[in-house]
Amino acid sequence: MYVRSFCDSDGDGIGDLGGVRSRLDYLQWLGVDAVWLSPTFPSPNVDWGYDVADYLRVHPDYGTLDDLDALIAEAHERGIELWLDLVPNHTSIRHPWFREKPEYYVWSDNVPNDWRSLFTRESAWTFDDGRRRYYLHQFAPEQPDLDWWSPAVRREFEQIIRFWFDRGIAGLRIDVAHGLIKDRELRDGVGHMRDRPEVLDVYERWQEIAAGYEPKPTLMGETYVPPAGLWRYATQLDLVQNFAFLRAPLRAESLRPLVEQVEANLPSNRSPLWFGSNHDHSRLATRWAGGDERKARAALFVLLTLRGTALLYQGDEIALADGVVTTEQSTDLADPPRDPERTPMPWTAGGEEWLNPWLPLGETSRNVESQAADPDSTLTFVRSLIRRRRELGASSYATLPSERGVWAYARGAATCVVNLTDREASYDGRHLGPWETLLY
Ligand code: NOJ
Repeated sequence: MYVRSFCDSDGDGIGDLGGVRSRLDYLQWLGVDAVWLSPTFPSPNVDWGYDVADYLRVHPDYGTLDDLDALIAEAHERGIELWLDLVPNHTSIRHPWFREKPEYYVWSDNVPNDWRSLFTRESAWTFDDGRRRYYLHQFAPEQPDLDWWSPAVRREFEQIIRFWFDRGIAGLRIDVAHGLIKDRELRDGVGHMRDRPEVLDVYERWQEIAAGYEPKPTLMGETYVPPAGLWRYATQLDLVQNFAFLRAPLRAESLRPLVEQVEANLPSNRSPLWFGSNHDHSRLATRWAGGDERKARAALFVLLTLRGTALLYQGDEIALADGVVTTEQSTDLADPPRDPERTPMPWTAGGEEWLNPWLPLGETSRNVESQAADPDSTLTFVRSLIRRRRELGASSYATLPSERGVWAYARGAATCVVNLTDREASYDGRHLGPWETLLY
């Protein structure tokens, strides 16, 4: 969840840990097993928390370490795991290490290669006046990359993850999981800046640490690599994020082969992971569904009935569309800005739960209160699907033959069918209206 926009408990317009606590009953009611919190660490917020200034504390906007401990405990009582968003590739330029431990970062006397920043699209090397050298940043200049060849950096993070596992954190989403290790010789080419095989050694060690806890915390990687590269990460990470699926159009002929590819190649001890929205991408209700709630439900059906783990982004469950954020209201450094997918969660039609929110609340016709009371709402649909998916358990996936535009698959003894077209269709003698789904 994007903490800043989930629920505000103190009226300052910024979502916080108290807000998450106040909605644990809702998350339990919905059937959520685990919550991935966006970064909760102190940060100058150049990149909204993805520039960490202290990995062992909580940003005062969100609360205190005691609040986080209480949240972990209260979530646990409801059978909900809490996962943190760890950002190991880079720190904030304001992290004390940048001044006190410059050897933790990647330096060069000159601009050594053609690597570019994902945010500025200019050189990924910035001159530091104090050190009279260039430092590397795959993202903003305020986000210097750590040198993961350094044993000291590795030791720091081993302590950091133990610190959080000791507190009861049950999983980590690893930011830029494919990007930690850079070519030692700093050769030209983006392939030398990210997605290098040596990064798996880091996760092998983290898994050894995780194995010392019961239950073992989950390691989920933000793995922005082509699908064929995912299986390698899955040898060490429990869950790997498949961005090809999110980027594909909402069509049977596009999504089905991606699922078949995962089913055929993922190591057998791993579970697939499916998602259609996050804080960096247009929400599925907009990107896949163009605002059409029927299409959003079809997409949610797919996410929740495929084998494996489904990640819902806050608001997916009410088919929340992207917000409208003007250039003056925009807060994000990326181009295009990611504010539309980060607008606050509408809990009520009146929106009175958000006073002067940090991003505009916008449209509230789709909100939790109204949909919870409506047996025909998307929220009710999602909640009952979450119940039914428990019955499907870990049963195997198998594509079933179907007419064009319709996607049918077996999950063990159950049959799932979704009509991803605007036309009437049929399957196995049963009628399907446009975007209709069947589970029997
Ligand atoms: C991926 C995060 O999801 C995104 O929000 C952030 O800007 C980059 N990593 C850099 O940390």
